[in-house]
Amino acid sequence: MANLDGNIEKVLVTKEELEAINARLGAQITKDFEGKNLLVVGILKGSIYFLADLTRYIDLPLKLDFLAVSSYGGGTRSSGAVKIIKDIDIDLAGYDVLLVEDILDSGRTLEYVSKMLSARGANSISIVTLLDKPERRVVDIHPDYVGCDVPDEFVVGYGLDYDQEYRNIPYIGSLKREIYE
Ligand code: PRP
Ligand code: MN
Ligand code: MG
Repeated sequence: MANLDGNIEKVLVTKEELEAINARLGAQITKDFEGKNLLVVGILKGSIYFLADLTRYIDLPLKLDFLAVSSYGGGTRSSGAVKIIKDIDIDLAGYDVLLVEDILDSGRTLEYVSKMLSARGANSISIVTLLDKPERRVVDIHPDYVGCDVPDEFVVGYGLDYDQEYRNIPYIGSLKREIYE
């Protein structure tokens, strides 16, 4: 990644650490969802790399679906309002839903999505997030599975973007300040 690495301040989670996280979470989820009716729902776009790798460590029959949402607000800060851009296709009745996120920040996205989906008759809703910034939480939401906590820095890679770029970096890193300031 000679071209993209130059804008990275520090590597926070290496490729090898991501692999170990996926193996650990996949084994735990396999144990917990055995005998259940698993529907894995990825929240686009940030979750795609994590979802693709994690599900290959889940040794159970499962189905995949995707949701696209956007947070929007008047100013530079999100209003907390979340809008559905692309809904899931599968009727949720009877499914044990596992929501997959790349990062849990304020928690507003997951709070909105999990409330919306549980109102549709899912059997259960669980949350797995690769990264967590617990000190940034503004709503009361608790993930069932967490890859690791990260400091409150601008993190990119492995699905996470800055202005839609950097998602394809194969590790998690913090972005140099001069890039976004
Ligand atoms: C990011 C991230 C989470 C959400 C977390 O998505 O991927 O979905 O924000 O923030 P929250 O906990 O404060 O709601 P973003 O809206 O940037 O869309 P993207 O996944 O397409 O990058
Ligand atoms: Mn996202
Ligand atoms: Mg984003």
